[in-house]
Amino acid sequence: MGAVNTRKIIDMKGKEPIVMVTAYDYPTAKIVSEAGVDIILVGDSLGNVVLGYDSTIPVSMEEMLMHIKAVRRGAPDAFIVGDMPFLSYEVSIEKAVENAGLMLKAGANAIKLEGGEEYAETIRHIIRAGIPVMGHLGFTPQSVNLLGGHRVQGKTNESKEKLLRDAKALEKAGCFAIVLELVVENVAKEITESVNVPTIGIGAGRFCDGQVLVFHDIVGLSQINLKFVKRYANTYEIMLDAIKKYREEVKSKLFPEEKHTFE
Ligand code: KIV
Repeated sequence: MGAVNTRKIIDMKGKEPIVMVTAYDYPTAKIVSEAGVDIILVGDSLGNVVLGYDSTIPVSMEEMLMHIKAVRRGAPDAFIVGDMPFLSYEVSIEKAVENAGLMLKAGANAIKLEGGEEYAETIRHIIRAGIPVMGHLGFTPQSVNLLGGHRVQGKTNESKEKLLRDAKALEKAGCFAIVLELVVENVAKEITESVNVPTIGIGAGRFCDGQVLVFHDIVGLSQINLKFVKRYANTYEIMLDAIKKYREEVKSKLFPEEKHTFE
């Protein structure tokens, strides 16, 4: 398979599950690209998992740009999506296009933004500027204060109808893929069947066209237990153990040994 692009991603719908993983810096980008994922997302989850904020709200454009640049250095050939942080696209269409452009200048191939039909016009303008857009529906973390917490979406008929309307509006506006976060499984399935662009789920069940997880959750570096996450390793424990051993060996003068010294 040659370089991934939006056409290839759209063509994967219904044929091959799309694998997206977040990365935030040089080493995580190197690991996920070597593992052969289809898309790297420099998510604004950066705020929670790397910068220690309690939500994604404080994440700035400057922080996102710095991390996109680092990810590009670690994954020169990857298809990278940069996440538009809170207030980088809501204030005006002009600001949205300008900030999306800055993400591409930093090394992203596309951008992602949260929201439904109310952002269709903004999305159209960003795409008109030559910037591919990935949508994001369901639980949208930047609206956590409006949604009343980390709530699964699509439970009521009204919520389901709104999600379906939003997905169709995003497709019509030109999004090449749509993330569905924390959505009831049968609603995510219905959305997936009703649009011609791929859906990429996180906590949205088994029937999306692809899946996305946060790097730190997959490798067990974050320590929260989330129902929709599968932890494939426990790197927090491995790293903690290594640092403890190093500390003990320095304290007890077991490190450095003669072989670590220079004549
Ligand atoms: O910021 C992020 O990591 C995301 C994913 C959870 C989809 O938006």
